[in-house]
Amino acid sequence: MKDIKITMIGMGYVGLVTGAAFAKHGFDTTCTTRTPEKAENLNKGITPFYEPGLDELVKEGVDSGLFHGSTDNKSCVKKGDITFICVGTPSLPDGGIDLSHVKKTACDIGEALADLDRYHVVVAKSTIIPSTTDSLILPLLEEKSKKKVGKDFGLCMNPEFLREGAALHDSLYPDRIVVGGYDQRSIDTVMNVYSGFDCPKFECDLRTAEMIKYAANCLLATKITFANELANICEFFGVDVYEMMKGVGLDFRINPAFLNAGVGFGGSCFPKDVNAITAVAKSKGYQPRIMNAILEVNETQPLRIIELAENKVQGVKNKRIALLGLSFKPDTDDVRFTRALPIAEALIEKGAEVVAYDPKAIDNFKELTDKPITYAASAKDALRDADICVIQSDWDEFKALKPQDFKELMKTPIIIDGRRTYDPMQMIQEGITYLGIGWKNP
Ligand code: UDX
Repeated sequence: MKDIKITMIGMGYVGLVTGAAFAKHGFDTTCTTRTPEKAENLNKGITPFYEPGLDELVKEGVDSGLFHGSTDNKSCVKKGDITFICVGTPSLPDGGIDLSHVKKTACDIGEALADLDRYHVVVAKSTIIPSTTDSLILPLLEEKSKKKVGKDFGLCMNPEFLREGAALHDSLYPDRIVVGGYDQRSIDTVMNVYSGFDCPKFECDLRTAEMIKYAANCLLATKITFANELANICEFFGVDVYEMMKGVGLDFRINPAFLNAGVGFGGSCFPKDVNAITAVAKSKGYQPRIMNAILEVNETQPLRIIELAENKVQGVKNKRIALLGLSFKPDTDDVRFTRALPIAEALIEKGAEVVAYDPKAIDNFKELTDKPITYAASAKDALRDADICVIQSDWDEFKALKPQDFKELMKTPIIIDGRRTYDPMQMIQEGITYLGIGWKNP
């Protein structure tokens, strides 16, 4: 066991996954939550959401005696050496971010620091608009603790770059670690926690660290949106956007990642972060044109699926549509900003009958909409007697379906793919009508 004790405030993706990774690296780590049941479950090795491999990692941490759950922020901060703020920063109606959880957490930590007579470092890990750490968290910590940053306690901003579905890999083997600090002592203390992580490490000031997170997510959202815009244009020329992007991605300055066109991006980060940076820029009197365009394209992109469906079968009214994939991407049960929602709602609006299936996200999706959707028990059940199959996220379970399955089960074997799950040549040779956003539609 290492001699640094860590507290993660927040038991969402970031807090839980990063906490489990710290425990794996030998740190005594406690994750706190306001929900007693979640804390009790964590102490029994039970995780509150689905993430591949997380159950095992959490159990391993709990069994080794290094990973714990608690509802008591203050006592955990007092017992520990470093506290990471990992609470949610959800969107406000104007697109800005809701900092109420961050404020409450900073107050709790400040009150705990008041009773501490040793150096402690507070680290903001939640995604927060530049200046939040030094102009909101810092004053609250000093006010509540009656202590001085730089002297009695340290302060850092350490953004996370976890991808859901691959969060374990990203937390155990990150490709970079960014630590912004109030001073060098704070940075050194946090970098010490990461000494066992083998990757480039970048030190900077607090605001730069905050901005790095937004810039990275906005740039990735830009790449996806660019691919989507190009996909829409490629269709006019019968050019396959996936083939085309393979050629584009060979340029080392561009690289092939995040150039997969389709129904647009969802998830808990990209939509929220692009909206937040847009809202804050506007509040400063600047109109961010690129960000606005990203949001606009991403809004209309899922509807391209409906357009393709309507063109193929002359309207979707009274057609039975199998909608495969409800989570915002495969390997997660997270449905935040999933593109399945606008697709399902638009189909129902147009009079289609929607039969939906997802390996993990059905329960979460049911909470998003009360539209009359039938939920199937399996992908094959959803396909039975369907006129069209729409694929919104490309789970391995869907990749494993054979052309024969579509031909035998569906009324008419028409697949409209929002992700490019299959090889178009193979599907077409098997007699399936296989259409997608950004490739030659027969
Ligand atoms: C993202 C960032 O990748 C991660 O670094 C950050 O910490 C949180 O936000 P995540 O939202 O989990 O992670 O998923 P990601 O794999 O980035 O995908 C986001 C969305 O973009 C999904 O809806 C996905 O389907 C879509 N996407 C991704 C595309 O449409 N095309 C692509 O080429 C890549």
